[in-house]
Amino acid sequence: PLAEKILSISDLERSASKTLPAATKDFYNSGATGQVTVRENSSAFQKYRLLPRVLKDVSGINTKISLFDREIEFPLSVSPAGIQAMAHPQGELATSRACARMGVNMGVSSFANHSVEQITAAGTEVGPIDHVMQLYTMTDRDKQVRIIRRAEAAGCKAIFLTADSPVLGVRYNEWRNGFQPPDGISYPMLERSSEDIRKQSHDDGFSSLNSDSHSWAEVPWLRSITKMQIWIKGVLTPEDVETAIEYGCDGVIISNHGGRQLDETPATIDALPACAKAARGRIRIHIDGGIRTGSDIFKALALGAECCWVGRPMLWGLAYDGEAGVQLMLEILKQDFKRCMQLTGCKSVSEISTASLGLVCTNGP
Ligand code: FNR
Repeated sequence: PLAEKILSISDLERSASKTLPAATKDFYNSGATGQVTVRENSSAFQKYRLLPRVLKDVSGINTKISLFDREIEFPLSVSPAGIQAMAHPQGELATSRACARMGVNMGVSSFANHSVEQITAAGTEVGPIDHVMQLYTMTDRDKQVRIIRRAEAAGCKAIFLTADSPVLGVRYNEWRNGFQPPDGISYPMLERSSEDIRKQSHDDGFSSLNSDSHSWAEVPWLRSITKMQIWIKGVLTPEDVETAIEYGCDGVIISNHGGRQLDETPATIDALPACAKAARGRIRIHIDGGIRTGSDIFKALALGAECCWVGRPMLWGLAYDGEAGVQLMLEILKQDFKRCMQLTGCKSVSEISTASLGLVCTNGP
């Protein structure tokens, strides 16, 4: 694949989509039902235009932000996305190494194909990196506690409690293709072997592990058993931001699960401004969904996010060239973001504000 010139995330997507088996490509790329939200997550960024300030000295600009008491290279990290070994045998280990090499952080999905111990060790051998552990509310509470204890011992800084998935979204592609991970792939954090997984559909497997009776009471329960930070992943309304603050959460990820859960929710970039306004600096606001360019990152920061996360671009990078592919993905976004800061005249991330944005009125994408 390396003969191609990969200059953008869409180049990576195109390349990965050619090489992946059809059912895997569909599983990675698709959203729920009508695919409205998965499309709009990206296209909604086009409503905004950049307003550059000129003749600013941008020779020594700084793209860094601080997260978990440490600086990361630029305001991006890799979202927890499951089953990375379908994209490359090294899966999450390759992702962790690439993130460490590029100076950003990584979320570990509970559906990871390597253990949190292996994933954190792989990254840490390369360089400084922080991991967070993604969790659903599980039917087996003892198993959930075991995951939390393992994540804590492996040095994870936070639990990302995914709150948008009491049940799996309606994914026609998975049902049509009878999607199942290939033989030999397991979920070590969920204590599921390859044989266990292949006894059920992905949908039935999900609902046998995870509970649809979750509630905000999860937060004090988590607080009572772990010192890690607690973040809620999947918030889209100012009301839920307010509730997360009331419950003492450390952060929220404005997310619609990459359009894979409830279709026809707003694009996250459209949900962000009201959420950031409600937060008034009392809770950290991060965002994921559809971020594919440096100017997408810039726009999200201008509209009130502290940091962005990407899911599918990492999977495409893995499929393209494993660890080097994820590194390439991060390099593209970093250089693109840096160039965007320079061309808009922002010397540091703290200078990025709505003053750099114009809104283009359209009738939608
Ligand atoms: C995900 N995502 C996800 N989220 C989560 O909380 N737990 C999980 O196990 C997974 N698994 C997963 C698998 C795949 C194949 C994808 C594409 C996504 C959602 C993920 O964390 C993130 O919210 C989105 O991927 C962000 O959108 P983009 O960047 O993919 O558009």
